[in-house]
Amino acid sequence: MKNHRPSKQDPRTVDLLIHSADQLLTLRGGVQRGSRLGDLGVIVDGAVAIQGERIVAVDRTAPILARYRSEVTLDARGTVVLPGFVDPHTHLVWAGDRAAEFEQRVAGASYMEIMRAGGGIVSTVRNTRQASLEDLVESGRSRAMRMLQYGTTTAEAKTGYGLEFETELKLLQSILRLEDDTPIDLIPTFLGAHAIPPEFQTDGSGGAEAYSELVAHEMLPALLNWWRENASDRPLPFVDVFCEEGAFSLDQSRTILESGKKLGFPLKIHADEFEGLGGTGLAVSMGAVSADHLVQTPPEDIDALGNGDTVAVALPCTPFGLAEREFTPAGDIIAADGILAIATDLNPGTAWCESMQMAIALATRYMSITPGQAIAAATINAAAAIGLADRVGSLEAGKQADMILLDIPDYRHLGYRFGTNLVSKVVKRGQIVEFQPQDR
Ligand code: NIG
Ligand code: FE
Repeated sequence: MKNHRPSKQDPRTVDLLIHSADQLLTLRGGVQRGSRLGDLGVIVDGAVAIQGERIVAVDRTAPILARYRSEVTLDARGTVVLPGFVDPHTHLVWAGDRAAEFEQRVAGASYMEIMRAGGGIVSTVRNTRQASLEDLVESGRSRAMRMLQYGTTTAEAKTGYGLEFETELKLLQSILRLEDDTPIDLIPTFLGAHAIPPEFQTDGSGGAEAYSELVAHEMLPALLNWWRENASDRPLPFVDVFCEEGAFSLDQSRTILESGKKLGFPLKIHADEFEGLGGTGLAVSMGAVSADHLVQTPPEDIDALGNGDTVAVALPCTPFGLAEREFTPAGDIIAADGILAIATDLNPGTAWCESMQMAIALATRYMSITPGQAIAAATINAAAAIGLADRVGSLEAGKQADMILLDIPDYRHLGYRFGTNLVSKVVKRGQIVEFQPQDR
């Protein structure tokens, strides 16, 4: 007979069934712009059927168990199941730490003062230039595995602690190595314009202007060549720039992003962390995939977010990490019909935090969004912030089987509770992740 369909007596065998979740958050229906943010698509007593790396079906437990069978099942009673978190802004690979600077900051020195005195990003650059590829991979691996344990199944990872082509490439290679060697999916970003390198801070070196020309006209073309020769099977990395007083001006940022765009790279920007220089408007006008930080964003740039597709990525761990009072004005971005995402900004200076659960706890309190809105910002909208909303960030048939089980009876416990890990199981590309004692 043509078009034979399995009947009710003929369940299809799949690789994994997760069933009986108290709440299953599907986040179905695509990116959540403006006031749609927080549409969780909750299924009470929910189940998922998984074949290989993909989701086959999502429904209530009874119809799923009637249609599918599996030798491997997870009883999710007493848990909330949701898509794995997507962390769309991290500086995953670096060497050393800045604990001494943290001590100076709590004693009163500001982040920018420390940076002007030769500390800050440049001090991590000194350590990172000396580190071997193997050391960078090893320290990055422990952070990546901690992220996974805290529920992040896909993350963006930036270079930016080299500030010379060779070291930036070493960082990029360590990100690609970690992408191959760990279960987490890593999306690379080239952030050669993260700070002014020490050798461009001396008299006669031309400073930020000369370095931004070098990034735009030498590093980015060299990066494209390197990529074609060494990583042509992967999509091009993002190009990002730190548009800020003391880092790169709006014009210098434009020069770098325009060159990146001409070469075909997708774009991101660090904008409005301390000063609103116009970086967000620039990002929207250039079709950047995301604009990140957005604490001091001028009203016209918030409006621009509502008229474009650039995702606004808030990084609440950063003002918290710096003990600052101002956070991204999420309500204004939502009211302007913008697309809001959140990320950790994991980095050694302002926010050494691998946990999207912590970002959610901070976003709910200091950006005044609900747990439901924060969850959407940390999953489907975060996926959009790295151009992956059609592959991850929701639980829908056809999507990658990336999901987490939380030991909580109701999704509103996310954000409400903080400082402990609520994740009890991580499923990545259809596999239940087994953690080792060293993955802590
Ligand atoms: O996103 N703002 C620039 N970069 C990082 C900080 C990096 C560092 O201090 O090492 C950030 O906050
Ligand atoms: Fe950052």
